[in-house]
Formats: sequence, structure tokens, C-alpha cells
Amino acid sequence: MLELEGISKVYRVGTFGGKELHAVSNVSFDIEDGEVVSLIGESGSGKTTIGKMILRLTPITSGMIRFNGVDISTLKGAALKKYCCDVQGVFQDPFCSYNPIFKADRIFGIVRHEFFPGLTGAQWSAKVEGALRAVGLNPPDVLNKFPHQLSGGQLQRFLIARALLLDIKLLVADEIISMLDASTRMDVLNLLADLKPRGLSILFITHDLSLGYYISERAVILYRGCVVEMGSTEKIYSNPLHPYTRLLMASVPRLDKKWEEVEAGLRVRAAGLPGGCVYYDRCPITDQAGCCDSRRPALVEAESGHLVACSQVTGQ
Ligand SMILES: Nc1ncnc2c1ncn2[C@@H]1O[C@H](COP(=O)(O)OP(=O)(O)O)[C@@H](O)[C@H]1O
Ligand SMILES: [Mg+2]
Repeated sequence: MLELEGISKVYRVGTFGGKELHAVSNVSFDIEDGEVVSLIGESGSGKTTIGKMILRLTPITSGMIRFNGVDISTLKGAALKKYCCDVQGVFQDPFCSYNPIFKADRIFGIVRHEFFPGLTGAQWSAKVEGALRAVGLNPPDVLNKFPHQLSGGQLQRFLIARALLLDIKLLVADEIISMLDASTRMDVLNLLADLKPRGLSILFITHDLSLGYYISERAVILYRGCVVEMGSTEKIYSNPLHPYTRLLMASVPRLDKKWEEVEAGLRVRAAGLPGGCVYYDRCPITDQAGCCDSRRPALVEAESGHLVACSQVTGQ
């Protein structure tokens, strides 16, 4: 359904945009119909930038994104509108996604105006009610309310309902449960799981490895804009190969392990030469012979359906 082929994003930063910031470097993965893929990485690793490129909210510097075989950068007019119907995003902070002076359901009105101008009032109300009930909201509880009168969980569901109104094919869910408290998190996660049978594909963006495991069939681990490991969630979690993924696994709080023990495995050295492994300065298993700091490892299939970019693991 969606294919990312070698996409990169360079932002121009600094005074007069004189410096380049490589936010995303040569990232390739795909999402199939009805599949949930997690994109996991720490803050600043380029996750949101990838989501924005998919949603056409920011241009791609190089590479290509195809949706059902069509390069999305070529879409215009009606074809672009159709793409916006098929692919929608929901972002981290639900309160930022709303204008606080408008009632929450005003965003539904915008969808009606843009995409369903031909529906009668009764048809539209039925559609809204269906979408709200699909995300577990009772319409009278949320319609006609201002954003501050709703909880974070209700707002997040509301945004997912808006996406469902369009009968979307792919949802880009960017840290959508980070702002929620623990019990509401599970509700929203379970809601996403319930949406799977509708054939909806989801790109689930998170910095939290355990959430990715809970929800997805495949995971892509990102570090400084590069994919360091990807494959079936089951395989990555049972057999993490890249030292960064191992660190993430070790950092998931565990009752039997204190943080000092986890941290003891870490050394930080000076950054390697540009072009070397992106993880070089933090890696505990880097070689002294000097290939890690000078050559960027390629993603190599270590076992079927499980790729890793680490020359120490793959011997390449
Ligand atoms: N509009 C922008 N202009 C310049 N730099 C940006 C912009 N957006 C993000 N960045 C930078 O790109 C990198 C990746 O950011 P982002 O995609 O937001 O990462 P994540 O979502 O994983 O936290 C960061 O270093 C961030 O500071
Ligand atoms: Mg982000």
C-alpha cells in the first residue's frame, strides 16, 4: 500500500539557513494493507518528519513515497484530495490540534464542507454518530462541547473519529498516547487494535518500545534518522540484534533490574567520522580496527524477515 524508498530529509537551519540538518537519511520500508507498523526511536530521531512527509506536510529532500504504486509528490487536484481522504494523521498533543475557542465538533463541519457537501443533515448526523460510536464515544457526551470540557482521551478518540469519517486507508498515529494517563492509554491502544479488522493500516509512531510491541506486526527502529533494525515485531523483541535496540529493551523499566546496571553497559566516545555508523559514539560493541567509524553499515537480513544495520552483528 505505502512504500518509502530511500527517503531523506535535510532541513536548512542556522542563521540564513546556512547549515544542513540531516533529519532522515535513506529510509525505506513499506506498510501493507491492514498492517500495523511501529516506527520507534528516541526524541529527535526523525519520526515526526517521516510522518509529515507521508502526509505531505513537508516536502521530501530525496527518495520517493508511493501510495498504491503512485508517487505521492506528483498528486494534484482531485487525486491529492483523494490521497488526503485515504491517509490521515493524528498527533501527540490533542489539545494543540484544536482551536480552543471553537466547539470540538466544528472540525467535523470542516470535513463535511470539504469532502461531503452533498449529504443531507440527517445523513451527515448518522455518519458522525457512526464514527463516534466506532471510537467508543457517546455522541451527546462530546458534541457541542469546547475542547477544555473534554479529557485528553476523549479528544484523541475524537480525532481518530474524524479520520474514520473519511473512511481512511492509512492512519499515521504520531505519539498519540504519550500525553494520556496509563488507563486511558490502554483504551486508545485497544481502540486501534479494534480498528484493524476494518482493513485500516496504521503507522504507529512511538518512543516507547513496549507500546510498539503491544500493537504492531512489524517494527522499524530509527536512530538519528537512520533505520538500524527492522522486521517482524516478534523477532526483534525476542532477538534484538542492534546494540541500540538492545539498549532500548534494557531501558524498559523492569522490577528486577536497577537503572545503574543498565547504564553500566554504556560507554560514550567521541563522535565518529561523518559517514560512519550513526550509533558509533554510543556503541558498546564497536570494533577498534576502525570500520565502524568510517563506513555506514547497510541493512542486512540477519534472519528471514529481520534486518539489522550493524557490521559487528552481520560481519559485513
Ligand atoms: N521544521 C524544522 N526545521 C528544522 N529542523 C527540524 C524541523 N523539524 C524537525 N527538525 C529537526 O529534525 C530532527 C528530527 O525531528 P523530529 O522528526 O521531530 O523527531 P522525532 O519526532 O523523532 O522527535 C530533530 O533534530 C529536529 O530538531
Ligand atoms: Mg515527534
